[in-house]
Amino acid sequence: MDSETERVAAFAEQFRKVRLAAGRPTLAAIINAVGQGRGRSPLSDSTLSGWLRGKSVPSDATLFLSVIEYLLAKAPDFPLRSLAQWERLRTAAEIQKSSRRGRPRRSPTLAEPSMIGLPRPPTQPFAGREVELAQLDCDVRRSGHRVTVIHGLSGTGKTELALQYAARNRDRHPVVWFSTADSADAIAAGLARLARWLTRQRSGTAEADLTEWALRWLQEHDRWLLILDDVGSRAAVEDVLGNLVRGHILITTRRDLSWGGFVHGWVCCTDR
Ligand SMILES: Nc1ncnc2c1ncn2[C@@H]1O[C@H](COP(=O)(O)OP(=O)(O)O)[C@@H](O)[C@H]1O
Ligand SMILES: [Mg+2]
Repeated sequence: MDSETERVAAFAEQFRKVRLAAGRPTLAAIINAVGQGRGRSPLSDSTLSGWLRGKSVPSDATLFLSVIEYLLAKAPDFPLRSLAQWERLRTAAEIQKSSRRGRPRRSPTLAEPSMIGLPRPPTQPFAGREVELAQLDCDVRRSGHRVTVIHGLSGTGKTELALQYAARNRDRHPVVWFSTADSADAIAAGLARLARWLTRQRSGTAEADLTEWALRWLQEHDRWLLILDDVGSRAAVEDVLGNLVRGHILITTRRDLSWGGFVHGWVCCTDR
């Protein structure tokens, strides 16, 4: 077996193993459990059995990771627990499949979940903030809570808290992205960088097109985390908030803004 075939085989083998460890649920049970979210590619018996036999590789990372989350919840002892590792397996197999077919992929592949989406690694040692981290955790888990504001004076540790949260919960969010958000332009530039990262595109496309592409991508996928750092006004983020109803947005701000119905969770960052 050449190393390229091995990647698809390794993917299929792990996928079969996790299903076995989960008590070998039927394909119908898996399909039923993950549901069919809006904008998702359809999941059918034949799609799933193609993945299990190494005949095909999932092209929709979000859909695949929700299948994995379902199986892992039923297989508490299965060693491969990190969604980032599963995403790496999938990406490696997908790249192999498409290059073997000798033609480019139709849509850009999701890049590996990575800290590259953050401007710097979180500070170590990080002191305290257990309550705030637990609050964020609770907000993100609760369904319907999709925009959380971290509010506090300058220097109280808002940005740091967002970075720590993102780093500690990487497995929950296949894509984590950070953008400065003191103006609408800064956010547009941040989203354009996200598009470049997801498509691995270095140059050649106008920033406005990239921004639009990123917004569309965020509209079509779940479970991403977007940090909008240092928001200066509601007007700067209104467009983004109004257009995105999936994934989670974490806003940090020094300003006491009136958010109307846009915000679902609050964390107050007071002096440590
Ligand atoms: N809980 C913490 N433990 C250790 N260092 C922290 C903590 N919170 C913040 N810091 C550090 O304090 C400084 C200010 O924090 P920052 O997040 O930039 O504040 P803000 O975004 O509220 O202006 C940064 O250098 C950050 O790394
Ligand atoms: Mg800050």
